[in-house]
Amino acid sequence: MEQRKPKRYTVTAALPYANGPLHIGHLAGAYLPADIFVRYLRLHRRDVVFICGSDEHGAAITLRAKKEGTTPQQIIQKYHELNQQAFADFGISFDIYHRTSDPLHYDTAQSFFLQLEKNGVFEVEESEQYYDEEFSQFLADRYITGTCPKCSSSGAYGDQCEKCGSSLNPTDLIQPISTLSGKPPVKRKTRHWYLPMQHHQEWVEEWIKTGRYPSMKYPVVPHDANAWKQHVRGQCMSWLRDGLKSRAMTRDLDWGVPVPLPHTEGKVLYVWLDAPIGYISATRQWATNNNKDWKPYWQDPDTQLVHFIGKDNIVFHCIIFPILLQAHGDYILPDNIPANEFLNLEGDKISTSRNHAVWLHEYLLDLPMRKDELRYVLTSISPENADSEFTWKDYQTRINSELVAILGNFVNRVWVLYHKYYNGVVQYAEFQDSGVKEVIAQTYDALAQNMEQYKFRQALTEVIDLARFGNKYLTEKEPWKKFATNPEQTAQALSDCLLLIAHLGALMQPFLPDTAVRIFEMLNFQKLQIDWDEEISLPQGHVIRNPVLLFEKMEDDAIEKQIAKLAQAKTENTQSTEDASLAISPLKPEITFDEFARMDLRIGTIKEAVRVPKADKLLQLTIDTGIDIRTVVSGIAEHYSPEEVIGKQVVLLANLAARKLRNIESQGMILMAKDPQGKLYFVSPEQVVRPGSDVA
Ligand code: MF3
Ligand code: ZN
Repeated sequence: MEQRKPKRYTVTAALPYANGPLHIGHLAGAYLPADIFVRYLRLHRRDVVFICGSDEHGAAITLRAKKEGTTPQQIIQKYHELNQQAFADFGISFDIYHRTSDPLHYDTAQSFFLQLEKNGVFEVEESEQYYDEEFSQFLADRYITGTCPKCSSSGAYGDQCEKCGSSLNPTDLIQPISTLSGKPPVKRKTRHWYLPMQHHQEWVEEWIKTGRYPSMKYPVVPHDANAWKQHVRGQCMSWLRDGLKSRAMTRDLDWGVPVPLPHTEGKVLYVWLDAPIGYISATRQWATNNNKDWKPYWQDPDTQLVHFIGKDNIVFHCIIFPILLQAHGDYILPDNIPANEFLNLEGDKISTSRNHAVWLHEYLLDLPMRKDELRYVLTSISPENADSEFTWKDYQTRINSELVAILGNFVNRVWVLYHKYYNGVVQYAEFQDSGVKEVIAQTYDALAQNMEQYKFRQALTEVIDLARFGNKYLTEKEPWKKFATNPEQTAQALSDCLLLIAHLGALMQPFLPDTAVRIFEMLNFQKLQIDWDEEISLPQGHVIRNPVLLFEKMEDDAIEKQIAKLAQAKTENTQSTEDASLAISPLKPEITFDEFARMDLRIGTIKEAVRVPKADKLLQLTIDTGIDIRTVVSGIAEHYSPEEVIGKQVVLLANLAARKLRNIESQGMILMAKDPQGKLYFVSPEQVVRPGSDVA
């Protein structure tokens, strides 16, 4: 079956939480690919609305306000403005940047909820939920930690264990602790609106596989099942295999969109029924501002709906939100959810709490005028199908050897020669070499194909390859040699290069919008945006302007400054930007004095130390405990060499049952301090004491 051309496009980018600044991972994950896609659609004059805004609800915002002694309103105001500005600075061309605290959003979300309620979509259930008595509030999933029931590691959250990746319910946790008070929470009865997703399992599965769904008004051509990225489909299939379950759509919290029913004080809509409805509210606001009808953008089957998100929101947008849209009755479902994976930074995960990030609002202060460069590098390394990595060295290399040496160099060579030989006066209006014309036509096609399939990395490669082709062409034509002997051929070749640059400008618009404008200015064009169906011609006699430098070389010192900045953040680990408490392990449940007293803690002296063969982490220690000499195997080899530890005094848990590690019997355990980054330090007496001294 032929794929029908959509009449219009609704493109959304995940609403970022307004509780912190944005970094390059956000840009690479969702906003830059979304912007490239939308700019591409606009160049084809497609009818498109590009939606985003701040997600201003959620427990993280209230908690942050509490910690900083301020109000949620102040937090969201600050970050809404900061983030909106950061997006604007990087040319993310939203048609509207809305916010979920807007009354229009309350109205949209509440009406949506009421329609679902009317359709009998929810099940109201009373259940016991964790409650923090000291803070007098029910606890959001993220504010309960405990031991993971699946992998037994500590510090798992109420919704997920980050060690083994299992998704959890707070009540699954072993020995739960409230991160608000550090105390074990109690259970309290409360009533909530649940979405029994298991009732939707069958059609969701069918829809993800074939693109067909029940409320389709007429047989729309189903989406191509292979059009979804493999990792997106994979996550969905794994959820479906586990079986969809009932999930609460409301929460007990005093910050959010109130449940619009009587006797529901203190209850708000959970993020699933709040943030994505924000896409709809934003569309309504945009439509009002522009005298349009919002409904076709969400309800006409001839609309192609596309959600750009990071991989942490896949199930949310591929399963939960579609169920809500379908259950409402009159909405279309997304055609695609081209989620990206994660971007790492200098060999490590980007971390807000550890300040291991390149912040958007700082980047342009440090590197003014380098906006297109960042767009370029982040697209080149976009984590489209797997996690990828940003390093400053690689950023420098890509700028210097691609943008400067290929793109900038080509444009500059042509400009210099054109001015030198013809004073910038255009010699030929049309392509003289059909070969050049052909290569350009192929590039348009390749770009379009890649863009429609959300392969922006490859699309960008096509642009650079065209510049590469131009450089080669110029070198082969040798105008500097042939100008004297074969002036006509030279004028033809250089004019073709000039036209090629005009097309390069047109082609690079989705990726490098500012650079494209500068090229159009150099060409002395009236219009600074060129749609892809427009004829580009440079009339004979038209005068081009003087060249400007498109890209400046990235020098070592600027790069080293950035590397040093990250290193400094690492040592300081200021934790200024996010909850320090989350990096520190929560309090364990209370024990009695007797339980404590059962531990035999004493000072030992390390007499010998050797590495355990084939175990990177382990040292085999020989310890004088004052009562005996024994062997302890300890996981400190990545932090200390054997030579460093010999002679050190340590605290030893001496009555721990012996256990075998790598076939060596370990008789006890030495105690180490572990900082939030996982670095280990000895806990030793202030002065040397006699081995065997009690620690109590
Ligand atoms: N603000 C949430 C997050 O960043 C949700 C974003 S996706 C949306 O994870 F649909 F809810 F906007
Ligand atoms: Zn686990």
